[in-house]
Amino acid sequence: MNADTACARVTAVLVRREQAADVPAIAEIHRAAFKGEVETNLVAELRASGAWLPELSMVAELDGRIVGHVVCTRAHVGDVPALGLGPLGVDPTVQKSGVGTALMHAVLGAADALNEPVVVLLGHTEYYPRFGFAPATSFGITPSVPEWGNHFQARPLSTYERSIRGPFAYAGPFNDL
Ligand SMILES: CC(C)(COP(=O)(O)OP(=O)(O)OC[C@H]1O[C@@H](n2cnc3c(N)ncnc32)[C@H](O)[C@@H]1OP(=O)(O)O)[C@@H](O)C(=O)NCCC(=O)NCCS
Repeated sequence: MNADTACARVTAVLVRREQAADVPAIAEIHRAAFKGEVETNLVAELRASGAWLPELSMVAELDGRIVGHVVCTRAHVGDVPALGLGPLGVDPTVQKSGVGTALMHAVLGAADALNEPVVVLLGHTEYYPRFGFAPATSFGITPSVPEWGNHFQARPLSTYERSIRGPFAYAGPFNDL
């Protein structure tokens, strides 16, 4: 890859908040990325729930086309409000070209700006550490399913305090998975 190609790749991806007209495209992204309906249905249930945070549902556009989506919803560590991240999905035709990275940096920056203390997720151990995630248990944040092991990860933000520890609870719709 030469410098011109790298520059074009980065500048072509725009990340912004979800708008109402994006809902069908977001469903299609997760249907294709996860090869099924589970995550598509989860996003719809989260959007209809009280845990939905419109500031933290973000899409990536490539040449005006939606190619990725990520959302954080209201969760808790013990009694403390926290964020659960997911799903994160990228159109399979453009995966491994920086879209997921752009979405992750955008949603983490937005969460930090909103004074959220910590983001928790269940995901690939090879992917999320590059965004500052580490095993959640290393922060004293414990999963409802111990077998999640190191896939259960947390990313402290600026307002994080070490006293934020205890059992993690996702938004209700995650419990139906
Ligand atoms: C995982 C996913 C969101 C990553 O998005 P992406 O746009 O393809 O990723 P990026 O281009 O930003 O990042 C590419 C890097 O991540 C790595 N990567 C991508 N998917 C990965 C995975 N599943 N596990 C580990 N590493 C992964 C690539 O190897 C690449 O590494 P490099 O920079 O060292 O070459 C996307 O592949 C996807 O939608 N996958 C299917 C759904 C899914 O698994 N979602 C996450 C659930 S935890």
